Amino acid sequence: MDIYERLTKDHNTHREMATRLAETTGDSEDRRKLWEEFKPEAEAHANAEEQTFYATLIETPEAQEKARHSISEHKEAADLMEKLSAEDMSSPGWLQNFKKLKEELEHHMDEEENEVFMKARTVISDETATKLVSDFEERKAAEL
Ligand SMILES: [Fe+2]
Ligand SMILES: [Fe+2]
Repeated sequence: MDIYERLTKDHNTHREMATRLAETTGDSEDRRKLWEEFKPEAEAHANAEEQTFYATLIETPEAQEKARHSISEHKEAADLMEKLSAEDMSSPGWLQNFKKLKEELEHHMDEEENEVFMKARTVISDETATKLVSDFEERKAAEL
């Protein structure tokens, strides 16, 4: 397994969780439980991704811009997640904002998989791409 497969595995979990969350209604046990799983999971992924994959990528001049762009999207998503945590789950605005987050994250993950990884493959060695998996696992576990 390499870092691209490992990150994609998380993305698929996040896609699935976000789809289930978008189907919940009001201040329900389902919504609460899923949100309490989703938020730390998405945050730990983004932070560990930055500390390992993007930390490596940003050192290569050719991929620096893409790395910076992704990191700024992480910040936007983190802000929106804080907003959602503070917001009343029973208000219609909650689901509206969640759907906005879901769309942003889906766009972000698609971009990572289709553009960032493609670029990364040209600048990160296969050996490093494999080694980054255990670094990522360690950092993500520490975040959680
Ligand atoms: Fe990301
Ligand atoms: Fe990611």
